[in-house]
Formats: sequence, structure tokens, C-alpha cells
Amino acid sequence: MMSTAWSWFVIIVTLANIFACWWLIVWATKNKANNSKEGDVTGHVWDGDLQELNNPLPRWWLYLFYFTIVFGLGYLALYPGLGNFKGFLNWTEISQYNNEAREVHEAQIALFAPLAKLSPEELIKNEQALLTGGRLFAANCAGCHGSDARGARGFPNLTDDDWLYASDFDGIVMSISNGRTGVMPAWQAALNDDGVQEVTAFVRQLSGQDADSQLAAKGEARYNIFCVACHGVEGKGNPAMGAPNLANNIWLYGGSEAAISESVANGRIGKMPAQKDFLTEERIRLIAAYVSSLAK
Ligand code: HEC
Ligand code: HEC
Repeated sequence: MMSTAWSWFVIIVTLANIFACWWLIVWATKNKANNSKEGDVTGHVWDGDLQELNNPLPRWWLYLFYFTIVFGLGYLALYPGLGNFKGFLNWTEISQYNNEAREVHEAQIALFAPLAKLSPEELIKNEQALLTGGRLFAANCAGCHGSDARGARGFPNLTDDDWLYASDFDGIVMSISNGRTGVMPAWQAALNDDGVQEVTAFVRQLSGQDADSQLAAKGEARYNIFCVACHGVEGKGNPAMGAPNLANNIWLYGGSEAAISESVANGRIGKMPAQKDFLTEERIRLIAAYVSSLAK
């Protein structure tokens, strides 16, 4: 809001300008240059022989000028523009924004309400649900899991049907809603360099990769003491704490000797942030349906 004085100043200057334009047009159509007649030359010459004739503006052109003036006055009557005058339509940017936001919200309710009634099995088969879930995934998850959901180092691939945590619909909803934190302790202090090397050889062997069998045998003994509680007897992992399967040669941090010994020596902490504060339950269900559909 400007002060009343400024408001009147703006109103007067604006209207005076419009009036001046109108006056200029009227004046120009009434006064022919040098009192000459239509068709006379004005005496201006360019490029040797180009002469300016003293013809009036075409009618349509002239009317366009009048139309602009009428349009301008009409606009200023309806919309804000003249000082503090709000215009007869009472339009504001905020009211337009609110109206549009309400329309979007209503459209979303219309879109989500029927889907919210569907069971997980129905959602996973519903084209509309998967399409919307895919868009929500692109907007909220692709930054970490990749636009194709194939993940990256430290960010699990969601398409390979190898899961850190529960992989049924409710488990995936849990992963998304509450987030997940996988904690792999650091073993350097307990195992020393030799121990880390041995256990790494065993994990390589477990996953079907080349490894020194003598080292691996020593590693297995250590594994059965230090690792079995979380990664399981056969190395198949434990979804309750997100301990990865070490036997399938699918890796979160890499399966090379260097990557495995790094995981073992220094530990790993993978963190999936909880989404329930950003996404409504309906949306999370749609994303979970989309994620489920990827792995199947
Ligand atoms: C307290 C449970 C726990 C124990 C004990 C444990 N781990 Fe882990 N380990 C995990 C978890 C959880 C992860 C996943 C970390 C993450 O999500 O960032 C993991 C990750 C790993 C990884 C990385 C896997 C990948 O896909 O990149 C390797 C390798 C590994 N552990 C080997 C071992 C070995 C060898 C031992 C024994 C010396 C061991 N772990 C002991 C819980 C454990
Ligand atoms: C800031 C990065 C980040 C974002 C954003 C993110 N995630 Fe994750 N997500 C992770 C990490 C890291 C893990 C692995 C956690 C661990 O190591 O225990 C994970 C784990 C998961 C898991 C469990 C995977 C398994 O194998 O059990 C699911 C499912 C998942 N995310 C889905 C999603 C969805 C859906 C979204 C979007 C709503 C999302 N994530 C957004 C980083 C992210």
C-alpha cells in the first residue's frame, strides 16, 4: 500500500498520460503537415528517390490506437493499477493463487480418493495408480534411487527383487514412511588387518567370487563369531535390521576386495530418510505400489 498522496499522484499521472495519447491522435489526424493536401509529398527524401507522402494513417490503424486507449481504461477500471484502487473485480495475485491452489487440491482429491480405496493387490495392477506413483517417485525418490530406481553405491536398487528390509507391500510402505537406518559396525579394531583380510576372502567366496581358500577358511571361523548374528548362517542377511544378503553377489557398496574390506573395516551407515512428514499416506501407498511393480 502506498500513501494516499502517492496513490493520487500515480492516478493523475497515469490518467493524464492516457488522455495525452488520445489528444495526440486527435490532434495529429486534424492537422496535416505544412497544411498540405492528401497525396502531397512532405519533402522528405531518402536513398535518392524514396519520398514520403502526406497520407493519413489507415483507418484500421487509427482505430487500433483508440481501441488501445479504451482497453487501457477498461483494464484500469477492472484490475489494480491506479494507485491504491483495487479495481472493480477485486482481483489480487493472492486470490488468483488461492483459487488455483484450491482447483489443484480438488483435482487431487478426485484423483486420489478412488485409489485410496483399493487394496495393495489392486493398486499394483492399476495403471492410474502406477502412473501417479511413478511421477511421485520421480519427484521424491529419484534423487537418491535414480530415475530408473536402479540406485547407486549406497542407495539400493529397487528393481532387482533383492531387499535389505521387508519386501511385501506393508514392508515397503514402512521403509518409505518411517525411513530406515542400516548400521554395519566397524571391525578394524576387533579383527585387525589380518582378520579383515580373512573375513573379506570368506565373503568373496560366499558370493561366488575368486578368493584365497586358505584365507577364506580362517575368515569363515571369524564370520561365525562376529558376523553370523546379523548376516545369518548362510550369509543370506536379515531383513529385520537391514543386514544385506552377502551370498548373492548383489552389493550395496560394491563386491570388490577393496570395497568389501572397506565395509568390514570401517563399517557402513545407510540412511533412508522418513517420508511421512512430506508425503500423505495415500501418496506413499501409490509409490509403494509403483516400487512393488518394478521388482516383479
Ligand atoms: C549388528 C549387525 C551386523 C554385524 C554384526 C555385521 N554386519 Fe555387516 N552389515 C550390517 C548392516 C545393517 C549392513 C548394511 C549397512 C547399510 O545399510 O548401510 C551391513 C553391510 C555389510 C557389508 C556391505 C554389503 C554390501 O552389499 O555392500 C558387508 C560386506 C558386511 N556387512 C560384512 C560383514 C562382516 C564380514 C561382518 C563380520 C565381521 C559383519 N558384516 C557384521 C549389519 C551387521
Ligand atoms: C536421501 C536419499 C534417499 C531418498 C530421498 C530416498 N531414499 Fe530410499 N533409501 C535410501 C538409502 C540410503 C536406503 C538404504 C538404507 C540402508 O542402507 O539401510 C534406502 C532404502 C529404501 C528402501 C528399502 C530397500 C530395501 O532393499 O529394503 C526402499 C523401499 C526405499 N528406500 C524407497 C524409497 C522411496 C519410495 C523414496 C521416495 C519416497 C525414497 N526411498 C527416498 C536413500 C534415500
